[in-house]
Amino acid sequence: MYFKKFNLKSVLLILVLISLIIIPILSVDSSKFKTCQESHFCKRQRQTHEGEINPMKSFQTFNVIRDTVKLNQNDKTITFDLQEKTAKDNVLTMKLELYENGIVRMRAQEKSPLANKKRYHVNDVLLDSIKTQSIKWKEEPKSSSNHFSFIHGEKQCCYVQVQLEPFKLDVYIMGELAITTNKDGLFHFEPIQEKPTIAGPENKEGNTEENNNNNNNNNNVAHEGYWEERFQSHQDSKPNGPMSIGMDFTFVGSSHVYGIPEHSTRLSLKSTTGNGIKENPYRLYNLDVFEYEIDKTMALYGSVPLMISHDTKKTTAIFWLNAAETFVDIEDVEGPSKKTHWISETGILDVFYLTGPTPSSIFKQYAYLTGTTQLPQMFSLGYHQCKWNYKSEDHVKEIDAGFDKHQIPYDVIWLDIEHTDGKRYFTWDNNNFPTPEEMLKAIAVKNRKMVNIVDPHIKRDNGYYIHSEAQSKGYYIKNKDGNDYDGWCWPGSSSYLDFTNPEIRDWWASQFAYDKYKGSAPNLYIWNDMNEPSVFNGPEVSMHKDAKHWGDYEHRDLHNLYGFYYHMASADGLIKRNPDQNDRPFVLSRAFFAGSQRIGAIWTGDNAAEWSHLDIANPMLLSLNIAGITFSGADVGGFFGNPDAELLARWYQAGAFQPFFRGHAHLDSRHREPWLFDEPYSSVMKDAIITRYTYLPLWYTTFFENTINGSPVINPLWVQYPKEQELFDIDDTIIISNSLLVKPVTKQGAKSMKVILPGKSVNEIWYDVDTEKPIEAGTYEIDTPLEKIPVYQRGGSIIPKKERVRRSSAQMKDDPFTIRIALDKNQFAQGQLYIDDEHSFDYKKGNYLYKQFTFKDNTLIFNTHPESKQNGKFTSPSTIEKIIILGYKQKPTSIVSEDGKQLSFDYDQSLSKLTIRKPDFSVNSNFILKFN
Ligand code: NOJ
Repeated sequence: MYFKKFNLKSVLLILVLISLIIIPILSVDSSKFKTCQESHFCKRQRQTHEGEINPMKSFQTFNVIRDTVKLNQNDKTITFDLQEKTAKDNVLTMKLELYENGIVRMRAQEKSPLANKKRYHVNDVLLDSIKTQSIKWKEEPKSSSNHFSFIHGEKQCCYVQVQLEPFKLDVYIMGELAITTNKDGLFHFEPIQEKPTIAGPENKEGNTEENNNNNNNNNNVAHEGYWEERFQSHQDSKPNGPMSIGMDFTFVGSSHVYGIPEHSTRLSLKSTTGNGIKENPYRLYNLDVFEYEIDKTMALYGSVPLMISHDTKKTTAIFWLNAAETFVDIEDVEGPSKKTHWISETGILDVFYLTGPTPSSIFKQYAYLTGTTQLPQMFSLGYHQCKWNYKSEDHVKEIDAGFDKHQIPYDVIWLDIEHTDGKRYFTWDNNNFPTPEEMLKAIAVKNRKMVNIVDPHIKRDNGYYIHSEAQSKGYYIKNKDGNDYDGWCWPGSSSYLDFTNPEIRDWWASQFAYDKYKGSAPNLYIWNDMNEPSVFNGPEVSMHKDAKHWGDYEHRDLHNLYGFYYHMASADGLIKRNPDQNDRPFVLSRAFFAGSQRIGAIWTGDNAAEWSHLDIANPMLLSLNIAGITFSGADVGGFFGNPDAELLARWYQAGAFQPFFRGHAHLDSRHREPWLFDEPYSSVMKDAIITRYTYLPLWYTTFFENTINGSPVINPLWVQYPKEQELFDIDDTIIISNSLLVKPVTKQGAKSMKVILPGKSVNEIWYDVDTEKPIEAGTYEIDTPLEKIPVYQRGGSIIPKKERVRRSSAQMKDDPFTIRIALDKNQFAQGQLYIDDEHSFDYKKGNYLYKQFTFKDNTLIFNTHPESKQNGKFTSPSTIEKIIILGYKQKPTSIVSEDGKQLSFDYDQSLSKLTIRKPDFSVNSNFILKFN
């Protein structure tokens, strides 16, 4: 007996050990990445925030110097000086402006900066088209009053009140206080200064570091942390010394804040401080985080410093335009309100207040500042097949044929770094890819595309033309000593081009010309990876902050913009390579910043083949979508590891309803093309991809609409139902456009799950797209067998689809449409259809069709959308081959077109479903159908 027991125990132990070996638990080595405590500027600024004794003299708050307040009608600004209360020589100039659509801007920097040192201003993120508006006093500054206020000259959405002593700035919306600035006195501005002469924590007067900190900034400041900083083995020389900025903003009456991607957290941002909470602030510092874990406030690959606040009355936002390392603390305070504390290492103070007051007006305001998503080519909304690595031309052929053999549509096959000659981008491994032109032609014949990876690190090899030219032209970023920055990445010793310089961006763009990029072709597009930038032997796997850029700026000033500029240069290259420059580029980037949406697509980097990573994908993509980065996706299947068939099948179902849809896997992961799995999993994956293709017209129309109004392509529920408080925390459910609700299954073995169908306040009806049955708004437990993707069409919406699925999106281009009308409780529905040539910039000239369907009073009207700017030159051969109406209460006696033609139809009483077969109307002309 004893023997038996012992045996069982050992067997169990062995099993556990084996499982530990074969199921490696993926987890980030967080010691490689700084916390706020380990970033000296953040620690300094946060100390006050945490109520500790303030060790820095500059950590005091500011007063407005009364006599300096001026309203300048010429440049439509209000300006004044601010003086730090206890360091009188720290004087700043502040500029306040109003922009169209209810946007307030506040900027501040030193009044008399040192001649030899400067602060970085973010360029190229804001659109050139933004315009300041006239300002008028609401309450003029008077000597008897401690405040003044101003208002928009014409459109009076809101007003701003400035308190003089101490400085405070309040934004009022609809007569109520909405955002306060510096309420908690956390406005800190470390003035740029000359380096003090002492050389260490112990100086000749025998001061300790602590004493030094208590002294005036310009004297005897200890160097450690201020004039140099060490992290692990890396030394930061900090030649410009301390120059951080910090400010607090309170969203008054707010219950939720969202945004500031990219983090692996839920959509609704959690508190990081106050009420006994001591978390790391959310960090914005583009980093290549190996095996990132979910639910961490750690920085990831990209940064958008936009925070949106929402409560039942209003939606507002703060856009903190700063490209340096930034931390954001969030605290729940009385009101209830959300207090936030923003801290950046360098840069000027540049803040936009977006006054909403609705979610859609926030998206418009933010798009007004930073632009909308570049309209994707249709192919890029199809399915993308990637793997590190498809190893040869034969391998590509085999995968491509696999899709055809199994009748699975796909649009793009991707090649990762191994396709190159020794990680020299723009070259091919001649053994495995000897005839790239032929390979690309074979793909083109099927109307498919290829994407090649091109990374920003350049192999330091004199025989490599990109390197020798870049080196001789002096195009590389320099290290602190003025030599070419040399870091370790995939090719080994590498240098990094300085993409912040427009001349270097042009040069890079020119490398994509067909005669330069040998073996490339018009159906070859680009993938930009490692552009945070990733430097394997650099601090936090990135670049030294004291590296030097164009204009004599340090890397620390603009770190978060590096990937943005790189992405921009590559996309520009794809535009310029064609003589007519009329092909929309497709470049996927890992790093990003505010405004990256104008350039191309983004993905969430190296996730893992784990259920938790599938589960966090939608919250992360929603966060990106509300921050403007709508064309985004997560690696289907998870990058690291090997998903089992169920996880992969569920991932395909989720990915099919995410804006960018790409399967990808690590070099060491097993192959996982859909046909490699047993049934029913393989068919479930295939069906998910097919389903994606049927909805391409909806995706394309939704992306076009983003170019008009900046709206997210996938929305959290609260955006569509801003008054329904119980939805404010929900982030596992998305609504595509305003019509299709999707809650993918993200739990292993889930036989059923809870689905919230929103819109109780408006008596919304939803239709399960599989059963076509109507369901009232509410919470339901629904069955989720493996083949079920819980998808619901909103009653009141009309969705265009294409239901004949072919090999690729291009082959579906002229196919007829099926129109699915879902009626609301008033027998009303409306929807849009956008069509163009699917690839060129001609749509910008109005070469498109933007149409609207309205079902009302038993009449279906198909006409040009009132907001369409179509020029009448574009026509499409497509027709409408089927119209399905759900929720149609009783069988009509006849359906008659305007010209008197009777249409044939079927009516299913049990489903209240009406189907009009073969109306065969051209999409070019308008029509009206009467239902009698
Ligand atoms: C890191 C990227 O995130 C991943 O997608 C890619 O496969 C590898 N680099 C290799 O290029």
